[in-house]
Amino acid sequence: MRETLKILRYIGLPNVVLFMTTCAIWIAMNYVNVKIPLKTKDLIDLIILEKRFDTNLFVTLACMYVLVVVAGLFAQLIVQYVELNAQRNFRRSVLEKLITGNPPYIWRKGVGYVKNILFKDVETFLKILSPRLVSTLFSLTYMTLAMIKLGEIHWIYALVLMVYIAVIIPFYRHWFKKNSKGFEKALDLRRRLSGIFTNLLGARTDLHVYGKADDFVRFYHNNLTKFGSSMTNAYNTNLRLQVYPELLQVITLFGVTLFGLYELVSGTITAGTFQVIVVYSSTILHSSMELAYVTDDISRALAVKKKLWEVLSIDAVRGVETKNVNTLVLKNVCFGYSNKKIVDNFTLVVKKPDIVVLWGKSGSGKTTILDLVKGFYTPIDGGIWLDENEPKSFSYKNVSYLPQDPYIFAETLYENVSLGRELQKERIREILKKCGLGEFCDRLEMKLDSGGKNISGGQKSRIALARVLVDPADVILLDEPLTGVDVDRKKEILKKIEEIFADKIVLVSTHDELVSSIGKRKVNI
Ligand SMILES: Nc1ncnc2c1ncn2[C@@H]1O[C@H](COP(=O)(O)OP(=O)(O)O)[C@@H](O)[C@H]1O
Ligand SMILES: [Mg+2]
Repeated sequence: MRETLKILRYIGLPNVVLFMTTCAIWIAMNYVNVKIPLKTKDLIDLIILEKRFDTNLFVTLACMYVLVVVAGLFAQLIVQYVELNAQRNFRRSVLEKLITGNPPYIWRKGVGYVKNILFKDVETFLKILSPRLVSTLFSLTYMTLAMIKLGEIHWIYALVLMVYIAVIIPFYRHWFKKNSKGFEKALDLRRRLSGIFTNLLGARTDLHVYGKADDFVRFYHNNLTKFGSSMTNAYNTNLRLQVYPELLQVITLFGVTLFGLYELVSGTITAGTFQVIVVYSSTILHSSMELAYVTDDISRALAVKKKLWEVLSIDAVRGVETKNVNTLVLKNVCFGYSNKKIVDNFTLVVKKPDIVVLWGKSGSGKTTILDLVKGFYTPIDGGIWLDENEPKSFSYKNVSYLPQDPYIFAETLYENVSLGRELQKERIREILKKCGLGEFCDRLEMKLDSGGKNISGGQKSRIALARVLVDPADVILLDEPLTGVDVDRKKEILKKIEEIFADKIVLVSTHDELVSSIGKRKVNI
């Protein structure tokens, strides 16, 4: 029920209004004395009073044509508007849920996976569902109205067509469900595959998620074959789905035409009326066939919808939330990957306020230490405490983290900094200025490419810093910040960072001399 309401809110409502408007126009044209230029009005009076169906055919087709064109344009406008609005809302809520609410989920699934949900699923869902919904509503309206007209001629036509529809609807319902499951499976695989692929190509950080690149590749190969066959299955189901209704359609049309001919020969109806019967019944049958053709689209959209709601209803795993952390203690911490020891008996005590630099060349284990502090890994030996709490899983409430390889989403600059949080534009501008991104203050709606392809590396790392500044926790972890930023600007931003984080515990991992000047303490890793 809640889901239905959500769909109605995001997509359905304007479409429902559209549907009602179409009905109203039709009723007004057919049964109420609407103000139409005199000649046409006379014509319509003639049709309604004298039931001259051959004239009716001409006028109805002309009216239908105008109606379809106008309504089509109107529908396009509404669909565009709804799509834009819904995409914004949807993306924002997915972003908020996944990124600010549940980072362990992202780490488990990978940035690529999340990116796929955000940009493929939401788009597929909205693009497929709303236009199909509009066209389905139009088909249904048309079918009902045409059926009434046919019923006026003889009840038998309406009955035959109704039987056809009564048979076809449960048939569709059954296949809808079956097909939707097939697509769900295929989509899930596709999402995982392209997620893995994006992770492999884009975000190196995600290698943490699955361990080694080897595993990625093996997994990719195994699933590619499965994906192919499940997609083929889903489409084959569709093909079968379209054959039976077509057969039934030919039989029904044959029956209707035969009865019409009988009536014509026996003089009950005129040739014009016979024409009306054939045109209306074939268009009704055609419309119901149209519904068959959109089944695969609709089942795909429904499968996507199911997945989206699955994701949106995940409860955030917050871990231990420690407000007001005063000390960070790492005591004799040991950690390694496979059989390689990376962190060996590492001890560090940081009391608020302090900035400590983790200094060491690439591969020395700086990122690993930050991963341990944020609770992504548990030490093999020794312990880590935020005051008296051990970080078991990462929570933004405990620490603010700037990753070494920040991911830029194909969203606006505003969305990339706010990550789904509701923020005043003025606040974002303030933050951007602090990060040396003042030139972007009046371009908050600028669209960034995925992975930040349309901005420089330096701008990317400053955007990552801006994300941290939105709502900094007591413990700040900056993994190789300000990579690619020019020297003068770097100096300026470092000064600002010192000011802003003056009352925090800050760990900065770097192998950059200038950045390392920020801390009072420098620890060699
Ligand atoms: N998920 C992982 N699995 C196996 N080895 C890893 C993993 N992550 C990092 N390493 C290895 O651990 C070492 C330290 O890595 P890292 O902490 O990223 O170093 P730094 O941040 O100082 O460059 C490197 O040799 C790296 O290859
Ligand atoms: Mg690193």
